[in-house]
Amino acid sequence: MNKQSTLTKKVNTMQIKIIRCKDYDEMSKKAAQKIISSIEKKPNIVLGLATGSTPIGLYKELIQDHKLHGTSYKHVYTVNLDEYVGLAPEDKNSYFSFMKKQLFDKIDINLTHTNIPNGIAPDLEEESKRYNQLIESLGGVDLQILGIGQNGHIGFNEPGTPFTSTTHTIQLTESTRTANASHFNSLDEVPTYAITMGVQNIMSSKEILLLASGSSKAKALQQLINGEVTEELPASVLRLHDNVTIIADEEALKYI
Ligand code: PGA
Repeated sequence: MNKQSTLTKKVNTMQIKIIRCKDYDEMSKKAAQKIISSIEKKPNIVLGLATGSTPIGLYKELIQDHKLHGTSYKHVYTVNLDEYVGLAPEDKNSYFSFMKKQLFDKIDINLTHTNIPNGIAPDLEEESKRYNQLIESLGGVDLQILGIGQNGHIGFNEPGTPFTSTTHTIQLTESTRTANASHFNSLDEVPTYAITMGVQNIMSSKEILLLASGSSKAKALQQLINGEVTEELPASVLRLHDNVTIIADEEALKYI
């Protein structure tokens, strides 16, 4: 990425709310409560969903609540952040498979209301346009769930991604491929490219909930909360949004 195209600005930043939890379980429960109350308020909510290790506990809580209290997802719409390029939806490592296994198959959501970029679309540029239009046609995302990469990525927007980006194909950094390798048989199997919502799509969400657990995220969170707003740390853009809550555990917040 050309240095001049990166944005490092001193700007008036918004107050990010921080909910400090003792551990992963408490983080998952607090995030679930927030989502459940948002669905109660707006049954046809558009949820932006994330994959990875971080939201698995949250999805377990949602499933349990659905079973115990009957929270319904019949009218809910979802848009996922990203998908690996080259993995078909039925591939066991695709994010489509992840979402089915971790959430969709265990709640009463209408699968036709769920959306994930197509990682095997013949024309990825067309697919990116389709995804942008789809988000728009749903009226935008009401509540976006985010994890954070150790390098500060959100979605698969790696360091250096323009804040103006919309859905696009991106080459994954080696640190991201290594971090995600545990889900695959070997590092070689981890795809090299992904299709991801852009930073601008994420910033267009009405409300954002970022989850983080464990000391491997502590440095990225410290930079996000106290560092510069810079495209070199994509998550720092969240300081320009007026409705962001971070729910994180002690270890992830150990420098805050
Ligand atoms: P993780 O990934 O939840 O697997 O740590 C988060 C991310 O990369 O955004």
